[in-house]
Amino acid sequence: MTERQPQTRAIRAGRVNNDTALAPVVWASSTFIAGGVEEAHKFAQDITMPKFYGRHSNPTVSDFQSAVADLEGAEAARAFSSGMGAVSAIILGLCSSGDHIVAQSQLYSHTQLLFQAVCPRFGIDVTFVDGTDPDAWEAAVIPGKTALCFAETPANPKLALVDLERFGAIKGPMTVVDGTFAPPIVQRPLEYGVDLVVHSATKAIAGHNDAILGVVSGSEELLAWIRGFAILHGAVASPYDAANGLRGIRTLAVRLEQQTKAAGQLAEALEGHPAIERVFYPGLPSHPQFELAQRQMDLPGGLVSFDLAGGRDAGRQLVERIELAQLATSLGGPETLLTHPASTTHVGLLPKELEAAGIGEGTVRMSCGLEHPDDLEADLRQALDSIS
Ligand SMILES: Cc1ncc(COP(=O)(O)O)c(C=O)c1O
Repeated sequence: MTERQPQTRAIRAGRVNNDTALAPVVWASSTFIAGGVEEAHKFAQDITMPKFYGRHSNPTVSDFQSAVADLEGAEAARAFSSGMGAVSAIILGLCSSGDHIVAQSQLYSHTQLLFQAVCPRFGIDVTFVDGTDPDAWEAAVIPGKTALCFAETPANPKLALVDLERFGAIKGPMTVVDGTFAPPIVQRPLEYGVDLVVHSATKAIAGHNDAILGVVSGSEELLAWIRGFAILHGAVASPYDAANGLRGIRTLAVRLEQQTKAAGQLAEALEGHPAIERVFYPGLPSHPQFELAQRQMDLPGGLVSFDLAGGRDAGRQLVERIELAQLATSLGGPETLLTHPASTTHVGLLPKELEAAGIGEGTVRMSCGLEHPDDLEADLRQALDSIS
């Protein structure tokens, strides 16, 4: 039989530990009773065993991991208590003092701070490059020293893309993609030879703004390293959040389709409005990497960013006058959310770093939710029209 589509697999993926329950089961137990000394010994040695001790593993978390691995086309996955838990476990679990990392300058700010403030304390050098330039990645790799290349695509918040084919072909270092803005229904970096893909599953994967969750997928060999570090690192996913992750995976495809529909409609409405200086949406022909988006993303996704011509003051007016979209720091859920990166998600960055990431005082990021796109458009238009 031909392999079924991810939309179909998502419905039943991750149900190994469900017994006869149809919905995900929450195994809310920190520990499990061993059947004897031999069994306890076996479970203590194999941290993939879901019923030993909760920091090693948990049946609900294990089911969430296998569902994500299935959708990514990965051999294995490991969940964490947040996206940052996952990102920091990759860096600290796989890199050592004396190593070198190449990362892009367009990154989620806390990932950037991890590279800038934490890595040097552990003797790890980081070079930042423009992630949209495939040659820049290759030029920054130091043979024998660069242990890891870290990309984020689409990047938070301006939706700049990394060419996955070129990135996955980099020889020598491990390649890691943060795909938070494009979940596995939309984009699968491992298919391009990338070694690890990481998500803040807090966002579209769990998808209802009720879980803080991260997940890393890749080969069994790399995941064995990550698991080994994860039990010492301790940023363990809660079974409640993992169950919310499994719940989210079932509807991920339809939510992304609906959010993409809204985002496309809003991006077109924004483009050409006098209050807007520039719109960034991978589904618009005006996006500088429109063709790349078409090649490597099945859908352009539910996020749109834009620069308001009137800067921060225009942003304040927009947020005060818009009714449906709410000001909150997250994305990928049912509610349409607005974020002002310069004052929130990227507040820790210096002016020159904000500039390198393309973030200005008038930059607004919109995560389209599941409201009717016509209602969202009408509301956005009335708020934009009222900016003085
Ligand atoms: C691209 C990206 N990666 C990682 C993270 C961190 O995820 P979490 O908040 O789940 O730790 C975020 C959070 O916004 C993000 O946008």
